[in-house]
Amino acid sequence: MTAGKRDVPRSILERYADLLPLSERTPRLSLGEGDTPLVRSRVLGPELGLDALYFKLDFMNPTGSFKDRGMVVAVAKAVEDGATAVLCASTGNTSASAAAYAALHGLDAFVLVPAGRIAAGKLAQAIAHGAEIVHIDGSFDDALRIARALAERHHVALVNSVNPYRLEGQKTAAFEIVDELADAPDVLSIPVGNAGNITAYWRGFEQYYRLERARRRPQMWGFQAAGAAPLVLGAPVERPETVASAIRIGNPASWQGAIEARDASGGRIAAVTDDEILEAYRRLPREEGIFCEPASAASVAGLFAQARAGARFAGRTAVCVLTGSGLKDPDTALTIEAVRHDAPADVEAVERALGWS
Ligand code: F0G
Repeated sequence: MTAGKRDVPRSILERYADLLPLSERTPRLSLGEGDTPLVRSRVLGPELGLDALYFKLDFMNPTGSFKDRGMVVAVAKAVEDGATAVLCASTGNTSASAAAYAALHGLDAFVLVPAGRIAAGKLAQAIAHGAEIVHIDGSFDDALRIARALAERHHVALVNSVNPYRLEGQKTAAFEIVDELADAPDVLSIPVGNAGNITAYWRGFEQYYRLERARRRPQMWGFQAAGAAPLVLGAPVERPETVASAIRIGNPASWQGAIEARDASGGRIAAVTDDEILEAYRRLPREEGIFCEPASAASVAGLFAQARAGARFAGRTAVCVLTGSGLKDPDTALTIEAVRHDAPADVEAVERALGWS
């Protein structure tokens, strides 16, 4: 693979090869992961009183979510180890990404999803990429428990974030933020579900700090949905419930990693209500031009909730990680109130409908 005319290589496999567990035998197939935009907030950052707020548009990865950073590494390592099939449990995005990278490498993909509980766009992706899908009559946590058991019994590579290569790949998002801002921000705000991503980001910031590519590390602020907030409650949630289906998780696999990231960084993990999530979800596309899925908006909702609870942002810089594309979840998007007119196919009729005549 070549970088062509660009200075920055197109894939994290190339750009951060020396910081990833790649060997000479690791295939370097890529769909163009990473190098996602860091966009400065025009409205919400100033409203919060931040010196600068940035959105890391990590949904601008090949399958529309941050999962591709981890999946490109995990599936390549599975191939290196001789696997012919991958398996995962998923609230949707992991399954879309696993299915895509399995297709890229010519492997079979098997995915377990909570029946009727994943967003339409994500299911469409898994179908399009040819995954075999088991709709489980249960939660994501049930699906992950079953996937782990299956991976022990059968010759199939488990590519959930319990696979260490996933987190290795995902930490590259932290590298990109530091590379672009020339240091870590004061606050890194991130939605938390299975807790792999917050763990991976912290690992990335730590690694860059140790390598002296960053002078400091950010406070890690993780946000869970109030109806699915085991890390906030300090105990698993039997029946997690939230509009943000991606983070509808009651017993995160990387529980310890999230707590360590919080404590080592002097950060916090807090809950945001569905109303708070939906408000941020609606404001981002209207006021900033950025359309993410509800789970991603939890990172922005979290900053507002913290501000209301007394957090002071003057003099500080924050980055919100926007993890999944708004296109993933058309059903939630279509609940947004919109101005709609119906008119015959006629100029004057459309003028009348718009009130322009
Ligand atoms: N945002 C989105 C859009 C996600 O899909 C997920 C997780 C998260 C945030 C939370 O990240 O689990 O590392 O804490 N989605 C997984 C999946 C569980 O199956 O797609 P996390």
